[in-house]
Amino acid sequence: MQQLLDKIKAYSAQIEGAAVHSKEELEAFRIKYLGTKGLVKTIMSEMKDVATEQKKEAGQALNEFKNYVEQKFEKLKLFDGNQVKVKQEVDLSLPAPDMPIGSRHPISIVQNKIISIFNRLGFAVAQGPEIEDDWHNFTALNLPENHPARDMQDTFYLQESPAWLLRTHTSSVQIREMEKGVLPLRIICPGRVYRNETISARAHCFFNQVEGLYIAENVSFADLKQTLYFFVQEMFGQEVKIRFRPSYFPFTEPSAEMDISCLICGGSGCNVCKKTGWVEILGCGMVHPQVLENCNIDSEKYTGFAFGMGIERITMLKYQVKDLRLFSENDTRFLDQFIAAI
Ligand code: PHE
Repeated sequence: MQQLLDKIKAYSAQIEGAAVHSKEELEAFRIKYLGTKGLVKTIMSEMKDVATEQKKEAGQALNEFKNYVEQKFEKLKLFDGNQVKVKQEVDLSLPAPDMPIGSRHPISIVQNKIISIFNRLGFAVAQGPEIEDDWHNFTALNLPENHPARDMQDTFYLQESPAWLLRTHTSSVQIREMEKGVLPLRIICPGRVYRNETISARAHCFFNQVEGLYIAENVSFADLKQTLYFFVQEMFGQEVKIRFRPSYFPFTEPSAEMDISCLICGGSGCNVCKKTGWVEILGCGMVHPQVLENCNIDSEKYTGFAFGMGIERITMLKYQVKDLRLFSENDTRFLDQFIAAI
């Protein structure tokens, strides 16, 4: 019995200092100590020579020794004598894990398309601040003091006096460009606008617009019609028809709203066009002479047209999206559907 305990002690000291430097050495350690003919097995077999009354004590010592060797082996698996990790083998033939690909936001896709169509007609992109003053958002655009659009209901005011507000349309950018006094002027103004509206499937407190402006000598309503007709055909296809209805905007005279023939039913009447065969897509008109004068442009010499459309609305019609809220919720199940549309 004492002999056995002494052996265990000696082996333990030997194992204590054991180190491996390669996979082969690790395997050699395993075979030497833990293999079927290894030291642990051999020493275990010596139990049969131990006297019965000492079997319990010897068994315990042997078990502890066995656990000790196994633990040592686990440690050696992680580190060799130089503290270098034994690396797991990499299977280079395995396919790489899937990488999710992103897509452009549908609003960006349609905005870029609108910009490229108007670029071809010579319109340059102009941008301006989202936080505006009263002059550029309202007064210069001929919105009288008591106009309903100035109501707190529609506009987010950051400060009352002097007024700072979140622009309600990108017409403010047109004013900034006209004030620069470089004519003729042919610009489109894409950007985000804000209105104090209750959020629903058809309205939101922020959305995106593209407004257009052309100021030169002898610009006529016929130029406006032709420009917008070209845009509609490029955007929605050659079969789509347009019509103009008289309307009112303080900054244009005459003013109109433009409809396109319904893309769903082709004009015969369905739920999307509310059985009329037409859907409204934008507001437009000839720039009011007072607006030109407000920007120091000679309204006797120059005329111009302007138009403005909501990008969300165009996108909803083009891709048959029924709820405006989808555009700002960032649900990838919705957004992923536009990967192919880029
Ligand atoms: N600014 C108008 C709007 O926000 C759109 C518009 C622009 C209408 C230019 C006529 C001319 O609704």
